[in-house]
Amino acid sequence: MNEHEPLHPYRAAPRVAPYRRPFSWPAAASFAWVLLGSATMMLVANADPFPGRRQVFFGVAAIMSLGVAAALAILFRHQRDPVEVRPDGLFLAVLALPIGGVLAWFGAAIVHTAAYVPSYMGRRHRKGSRLYVADEAAGSAWIRGRATLDVPDAERSALGAEWRDNARKEHASVAAFSQLALDLMAVGAPPELVAAAHRDALDEVRHATACFALAHAIDGRDASPAPFPHARTQRRLHTFSRRLALTQIAVDALVDGVLNEGIAARLLAKLGSRCALPEMRAALGEMAADESRHASHSWDVVAWCVAEGGAFVASALRGAVRGMPEGVCSSLPERAREGAWEAWGVQGAAMEAEAYAKTRAQAAQKLTLLVDGQARRRRSDEKASTTIASSGTSANQASTV
Ligand SMILES: [Fe+2]
Ligand SMILES: [Fe+2]
Repeated sequence: MNEHEPLHPYRAAPRVAPYRRPFSWPAAASFAWVLLGSATMMLVANADPFPGRRQVFFGVAAIMSLGVAAALAILFRHQRDPVEVRPDGLFLAVLALPIGGVLAWFGAAIVHTAAYVPSYMGRRHRKGSRLYVADEAAGSAWIRGRATLDVPDAERSALGAEWRDNARKEHASVAAFSQLALDLMAVGAPPELVAAAHRDALDEVRHATACFALAHAIDGRDASPAPFPHARTQRRLHTFSRRLALTQIAVDALVDGVLNEGIAARLLAKLGSRCALPEMRAALGEMAADESRHASHSWDVVAWCVAEGGAFVASALRGAVRGMPEGVCSSLPERAREGAWEAWGVQGAAMEAEAYAKTRAQAAQKLTLLVDGQARRRRSDEKASTTIASSGTSANQASTV
C-alpha cells in the first residue's frame, strides 16, 4: 500500500479498549458488614442469657444498621445510571437489605422473649439484671419487737450486718410484689391472682420488719430502710402485645417466684430446724411458710399465663428453664460460706447449692407436666369442638332431608 494513500476513516480511528464495568467494592463491603453484624446478633440472641444481653444485642444491631444504611446510599447513588454503565456487584447491596431486616427481626423476637435468668434467695426488686434495695438509715420504724439474741461477741457485728442486708432485700420485695400486682391487672388477670400478689406484698412487709428486728437483736443497732425512690423503677411491660406481656410475666414468675422464692422457702425451713435460738426459729419458720406460699402463687401465675398465651408462652418458659444457671449466684460473706452461721439462720454455700439444685430440678419437672397437660387439654378441646361442629352439620343435613 502506498504510504501517501489516505487511510480509510475506520482504519484511522484510535484503538479504544472495550468498556469494562467497574466492580462496586462499597456494595460488597456493605453486604459483608450486614452479614457479619447479623451473624453476631444471632449469636448474642441464642447465647445463654447473661446480664446486659439485650443491650449488647441492640448495640450490635445499631452497628449492623450502618451497613444497611450504606447499602441504601449506594443503591440510591446508582439508581439514575444507565443500566449499561452500572457497576457490577450492586446486587450485593440489594441482598444486604432483606438479610439485615429479617435476621434483626428474628433476633429481636428471641431476645424479647428469652429472659435473663438470675438465681438468688428470694424475690428481688429488679429491672433486668439490675437489683435495687434501699439504703440504711438510723431509726427503729421497721424494727418489730425488741429482744437480745445470744450470739458470740466475735460474730455480732458481721452477723447483724448480714441480717440487716436480708432485711433490706425483704423490704425491696414489697415493691416487686406491688409491680407484679400492676402487671397482672394490665393483662386482665383474675381477682385471685391480683389479691394473692397484694397479700404476698404484705407478707414481705412482715419479713422486712422481722429481719430488721433480728439484726437489732444481734448487734443492738437501730436501723431501718432509707427513702427508696427506686421502688418506682419498673421494667417495661410489652403493652402493645398481650401475648408478649403474658410471656414476660410468666417467665418472671417462674424465675423470681418458683425458683428464687422456692430456694428461699427450702433454705429457711432447713435453717429453722437447725436454729438453736427459739425466737429466731419461730421467725424462720414463719418466713419459710410464707415463701413457700409465694412460690405456689407464682405457679398459679405461670399456669394462668400458659392457659391464656398458649404455645408461645410455653416455649419461652422452656427457654427460661434451659437458661437457669448451673449454680446459685451467691453473695454470702466468707464466714457464712463455710456454714459457720447456720445456727443463726444464715445458710452456708453447700446448703445453698443443694437447695438451688433441688428447686431447679423440681421447677423443670413441674413445668414439663404443666405445659404437656395444657397442650393435651387444648388438643382434646379442639377435638371435642370439631366433633360437635360435625354432628351439628349432620343433624342439619338430616332435618333438611
Ligand atoms: Fe420474703
Ligand atoms: Fe417472698
